Amino acid sequence: MLQNIIFPFYLLVLTAAQLMQEPWPFDVTTISAPDGSVTAKFVSIGATMVELWVRDKHGESLDVIAGYDDSSKLWTDPSHPVFNPIVGRYANRIKNGTFSIPITRDPPANGSNVYHIPTNDHNGQDTLHGGIYGWDRRNWTIVAKSPTSVTYYHLDPADEGFPGNVSIFATHSVTSGELKTKVFAIATQKTPIMVTQHIYWNLDAFRTDSTNVSNWSNSRIFNHTLHLDASRYIETDSNGVPTGPVSAVIGTPLDFRTAQQIGARWSELEGVCGPGCQGYDNCWIYDGNETVKAGTTLWSDLSGIRLDIFTNQPAVQVYTSNYFGLPRKVVHGGPSLVYAPQSAVAIEQEGWIDAINNPEWDIDQIYGPGKDFFWETTYKFSLI
Ligand SMILES: *[C@@H]1O[C@H](CO)[C@@H](O)[C@H](O)[C@H]1NC(C)=O
Ligand SMILES: *[C@@H]1O[C@H](CO)[C@@H](O)[C@H](O)[C@H]1NC(C)=O
Ligand SMILES: *[C@@H]1O[C@H](CO)[C@@H](O)[C@H](O)[C@H]1NC(C)=O
Ligand SMILES: *[C@@H]1O[C@H](CO)[C@@H](O)[C@H](O)[C@H]1NC(C)=O
Ligand SMILES: *[C@@H]1O[C@H](CO)[C@@H](O)[C@H](O)[C@H]1NC(C)=O
Ligand SMILES: *[C@@H]1O[C@H](CO)[C@@H](O)[C@H](O)[C@H]1NC(C)=O
Ligand SMILES: *[C@@H]1O[C@H](CO)[C@@H](O)[C@H](O)[C@H]1NC(C)=O
Ligand SMILES: *[C@@H]1O[C@H](CO)[C@@H](O)[C@H](O)[C@H]1NC(C)=O
Repeated sequence: MLQNIIFPFYLLVLTAAQLMQEPWPFDVTTISAPDGSVTAKFVSIGATMVELWVRDKHGESLDVIAGYDDSSKLWTDPSHPVFNPIVGRYANRIKNGTFSIPITRDPPANGSNVYHIPTNDHNGQDTLHGGIYGWDRRNWTIVAKSPTSVTYYHLDPADEGFPGNVSIFATHSVTSGELKTKVFAIATQKTPIMVTQHIYWNLDAFRTDSTNVSNWSNSRIFNHTLHLDASRYIETDSNGVPTGPVSAVIGTPLDFRTAQQIGARWSELEGVCGPGCQGYDNCWIYDGNETVKAGTTLWSDLSGIRLDIFTNQPAVQVYTSNYFGLPRKVVHGGPSLVYAPQSAVAIEQEGWIDAINNPEWDIDQIYGPGKDFFWETTYKFSLI
């Protein structure tokens, strides 16, 4: 139904919109809320957000997301931190890069309808974020643009070993105090689809002193306060790959049902994200069952900026940038200062991670003819 409505519309505007595009790598698209409360910039690679400006308690605009000044690094940076793009065809990890359709646990390598995706994570033990060249490292096409909205289109022609072609539309839009992203995908044959938008937040714009823009002393995310409406999380091995159990957060450092600072139980996180790694990289299952639910809230007392996230997704990954160490954008004091480890938090609205290898969860992530994919998330900004 939706497919029939949306397809002809975009095909009509494609040619006119293409003529308006600026040349690579400077195809930056800026959208701004009419009242100036939210301004976001995007590039075509991965339909990626490269800047997001919102106002702090002093009325000053801050860019609250980590990133590069040079967008070509989205292609070329071997550390591939996945700075704020649309991630697909299958976000997060896939055990051994392998799945079958219909899904089974640990499908044999030579089984029928078994698919292998390049394993680009943890020395080839799993696939992360759709393979080596997932949707975040493909150049999308702008198909519609207005002062407050931009729509990107991408055709994934069975890339990275996934079955079937997938056509994807991602629309970013802003209104007063809000950024919204919607992803709509149509597949020509049965395939798993699981998408996220991988935004790295620091609501202080990496400052440690809200009254002094020149004070860049050692910024960490520990003093941001997080609330997650989630009483369960997916247990994983030290590679972040689900082991099967879905457990209660009660009594663990994963319990954010009552808002607490991200650093509050930091000392309990040693080794939790793998040997020698300290921090969060976990998937929580939201409690709410509304079509669009208020799942996550994040705020900082320093800037006074509060972020409320509403989503149609059932789960959220929170990753405290445990492996950061890249030059900052100029607006964050770069390139001489770096984004230190644990200086940002990625909050990824998504499906149950690796559900395609955990059939006992009974989560259907297989899309295809007659079953289209739809993802939507709203980021609402206010002052505490
Ligand atoms: C992982 O997948 C490969 C094929 O890509 C297969 O040869 C190997 O046996 C699998 N390993 C495990 C532990 O299942
Ligand atoms: C698949 O591999 C297993 C283990 O190597 C073997 O026993 C089985 O016969 C193979 N099946 C097919 C259909 O080739
Ligand atoms: C990427 O896409 C943008 C807009 O969709 C276009 O302007 C640009 O030329 C493309 N760049 C490359 C390297 O294909
Ligand atoms: C999938 O995409 C490829 C490349 O664009 C195209 O050649 C092929 O016809 C498409 N297949 C289907 C079933 O749409
Ligand atoms: C910079 O910010 C830190 C942390 O808020 C503060 O302790 C320090 O005094 C500030 N430095 C200057 C020179 O203002
Ligand atoms: C702001 O911070 C910088 C760097 O720490 C420092 O040199 C400067 O004196 C500070 N300015 C004020 C007005 O505190
Ligand atoms: C900031 O976080 C650290 C580590 O969790 C904590 O020790 C400190 O008390 C916090 N500071 C404030 C002002 O809340
Ligand atoms: C959502 O949860 C409420 C409370 O547990 C329940 O009454 C309701 O039936 C659920 N709705 C759906 C659509 O599952």
